[in-house]
Formats: sequence, structure tokens, C-alpha cells
Amino acid sequence: MGESLELTSRQMESWSASDIVLWALDQYGDGLWLASSFGAEDMVLIDLLCQKTPNPHIFTLDTGLLFPETYNLMTTVEERYRVSITRVIPELTLEEQKARFQDALWQQNPDLCCQLRKVMPLERFLQDKKAWITGIRRDQTPVRAASPIVGWDTRFQLVKINPLARWTYRDVFRYLVAHQVPYNPLHDQGYPSIGCVPCTRAIRPGEALRDGRWAEKEKTECGLHQ
Ligand code: ADX
Ligand code: SF4
Repeated sequence: MGESLELTSRQMESWSASDIVLWALDQYGDGLWLASSFGAEDMVLIDLLCQKTPNPHIFTLDTGLLFPETYNLMTTVEERYRVSITRVIPELTLEEQKARFQDALWQQNPDLCCQLRKVMPLERFLQDKKAWITGIRRDQTPVRAASPIVGWDTRFQLVKINPLARWTYRDVFRYLVAHQVPYNPLHDQGYPSIGCVPCTRAIRPGEALRDGRWAEKEKTECGLHQ
């Protein structure tokens, strides 16, 4: 499986994102799920997926701490594409997390907070799925630079497909504008990468696209992608 995926991935280096999504649907059918944080990349993928199938499977990890603009965009997507987004929620409510650990856990221990609110729910959700599509791009982080277009996700034990691996941030916006795809208004207010409210700020002149995520911390990844 590993070797044949590796070969397929190499062949896909010259494919369009749209053809990669079509291939994924063909291979994995109802076992294929798109992970969306409703960032710019995910809006491209939602648009592509909805063009290819009348029954797209889209989920979001709803930490309970997302921006109001992100929650609004979810509703816009559901109306515009006539889809229902699956909201994957953590086992603990924010109140329970506060009682069990501490208030504002994200300040003292963001790794544990991400583990509880994103990674563990994702692990549970993906357990019976065949493949997931993500919006990661190679130029986002040094870790992501090595991402194949398709490969075996050893962390979550299913196939992972990154149709936009080769895209730049510019490519993403070119697509959104050309296809009149709705996107998070925060992108136009200095937020190229958007996560939870307590861990996301606008970037300053000269900063890189992801410098607004966990800005004052060493952390650069939340554990969904290694
Ligand atoms: S993160 O690890 O730093 O949070 P990033 O925001 O760059 O990830 O998003 C990369 C990809 O991970 C997204 O394109 C999406 O596929 C997936 N992803 C990130 N956050 C979520 C989320 N809250 N729900 C579902 N998928 C997500
Ligand atoms: Fe918690 Fe911040 Fe991770 Fe969101 S991004 S789950 S608030 S640590």
C-alpha cells in the first residue's frame, strides 16, 4: 500500500487539484472526508469537492473557541453549497476543561489544550474513515515542506490527501477570486492563517503568514499534521 501510494503521489505532482480530488472520490467514495477549518485553502477544497460530488463529506474540529467570522462562514458554506458540515466536538466542554485542568489552559499548556480539543477528537472521528483531505501546503512550515500529495498517515492510520501541496498562498487567492468563493473576512484584516481566538492574532508588517498562530509561543503546529 505504502509503495503504490508513493508512486501515485509522484505521478500526481503534475495533476491539477481538481483531478486529485476526483481521484480521491473515485478511490475512497463515502470513506473520504474533507477536514475544514474554513481557512482560504479549505474554501478552495470545498468548492472543488462540491463541484465533483453531490454528497460531499466535510467536517470541522469545533473547539468552541473559533472566531465568530468562522462560525458565520460555516453557515454561509452550508447555504451556498447545500451541504451539512459535521461538527466534531471535544469530549470536555470548556467549563469541564477548566474544572479538570485550569482556566485558559491554552495560555499555560497549549499542547495539552490542542490535544484535548483538536487531536483526540480527530483521532476518534477518523477511526472508521478511509481517507482525509487537508488544505496543507508545502510552503507553510518546514514540517509541511515534505508533504506528499497522497500518502499513508501513520499518526491517524488512514490515507491523507493534500491536493494543494504545491500551491502558494497567491494561487489560493487567485482561485477564490476567479471562482467567487466566499472566504473568511479576517483574511482581509491581516489574518492569513486562522485558528482559535486565543491563539491567533493578525500578522505585522514583515511577518510570515503563520506568525500570527501561537505567536508568543514556541509552538508552530497543533498536532494534526506532523
Ligand atoms: S493547524 O494545525 O496549524 O491548525 P492549519 O490551520 O494550517 O493547521 O490548517 C491546515 C489544514 O488542517 C487545514 O487546511 C485543514 O484541512 C486542517 N485543519 C486545521 N484546523 C482544522 C479544524 N479546526 N477542523 C478541521 N480541519 C482543520
Ligand atoms: Fe486550545 Fe489554542 Fe489549540 Fe485552540 S489553538 S485548541 S485554544 S491551544
